[in-house]
Amino acid sequence: MELTAEEQAILAGDQGPAARKAMEILVALGTIYGAQDLVPVSSVQVAGVSYGNVGQAGLEFIREWAEEGARVKVPTTLNPAGMDLEAWPEMGVPEEYARPQLELIEAFRAMGIATTCSCTPYLLGVRPQLGEHLAWSESSAVSYANSVLGARTNREGGPSALASAITGRTANYGLHLDDNRQAQLFVDVKCSVLSVADYGALGYLVGQRAGDSVPYFRMFTGRKPGLEELKTLGAAMAASGAVALYHVEDVTAEARLGGVLGKDVSSITIESLEEGYEALDGFGQDIDLVWIGCPHASLAEIERVADLLRGRTLVADLWITVARTVLQSASAGRLAEELQTAGGRLVADACLLGAPLREMGFTSVATNSAKAAFYLRSLQRLEVRFGSLPQCIEAAVTGGWKP
Ligand code: F3S
Repeated sequence: MELTAEEQAILAGDQGPAARKAMEILVALGTIYGAQDLVPVSSVQVAGVSYGNVGQAGLEFIREWAEEGARVKVPTTLNPAGMDLEAWPEMGVPEEYARPQLELIEAFRAMGIATTCSCTPYLLGVRPQLGEHLAWSESSAVSYANSVLGARTNREGGPSALASAITGRTANYGLHLDDNRQAQLFVDVKCSVLSVADYGALGYLVGQRAGDSVPYFRMFTGRKPGLEELKTLGAAMAASGAVALYHVEDVTAEARLGGVLGKDVSSITIESLEEGYEALDGFGQDIDLVWIGCPHASLAEIERVADLLRGRTLVADLWITVARTVLQSASAGRLAEELQTAGGRLVADACLLGAPLREMGFTSVATNSAKAAFYLRSLQRLEVRFGSLPQCIEAAVTGGWKP
């Protein structure tokens, strides 16, 4: 790899052991993936934030790096933690989980990272421009940045994202390069795809067939997907496959510019979403918890839930996971009160996949997120129902699932 004089100096330890370790990680990755050089990044998003996922070994690793003097050079945010960092006692999170989770967040803070824990940094003012290089980790955020915004990032692991934050660079390979951003799979969608859950089911089906290739969608539906549908589509394809970039004709950034369909594309046709719904939905009749907000909910999604709930009270728990800054916005504050009156709550900072849900007494969850449905079953071994938002809200009101 060709390194600049400054990069060579960092590698030689001129900026201390923490920066040297970061540069060693980037050079090792770049060498493995055949990168010619490093490119500057404008922002970083770090995964590996939930104590439930990284455990004590992960906490020690981050703490040690911070103590060696690791400090970030570019704006850096965190992926969700395993609990609301403020309201965890009311959520019933056990203290033996909460304490190390808070210590982990402190170690990130010591590095100069904004401890905004969200998988939707693009809803928090971090809105990269077309062609900008990033080092983001969370698969759904990576997909949104690459596809909807046309920025460029590989899916980074926790340590490699931190290495980029500390050096301000990433190895120049994969989706940073023009050639790798061409679509290889043409997806002709011939059925109606309307709701967020529909986009999740579509993403689930296409992700399975796409693997890590780049799909190009031509949609039958006349209504263009918005932010909520696109973040769901990307999240689902990253869960059932390893899709980190997709194009939607006339919608996503690079598709609008044209020329993104590769030469030897294979193609598939989607005639129905039924198979996707069947694969994601389970059989349980009783619902303990309804989870909305995977990826983290936008204000519009919170409003939609509040509209569906107005004047009703809940039997099951209803949690909407959001970024704290979204929760703090004035209208969300009003909506949070409305939700609380009905018996629901906005949960900030958290991803429920990393939360100790079984220890908290939950056994069955309903969600309108394909990604949540996919992983809740495989990682948390919970009974899961997957359906539309109105169906989920009905389940929260009645405590039961109506097909
Ligand atoms: Fe975000 Fe967790 Fe879903 S990180 S995308 S809420 S699985």
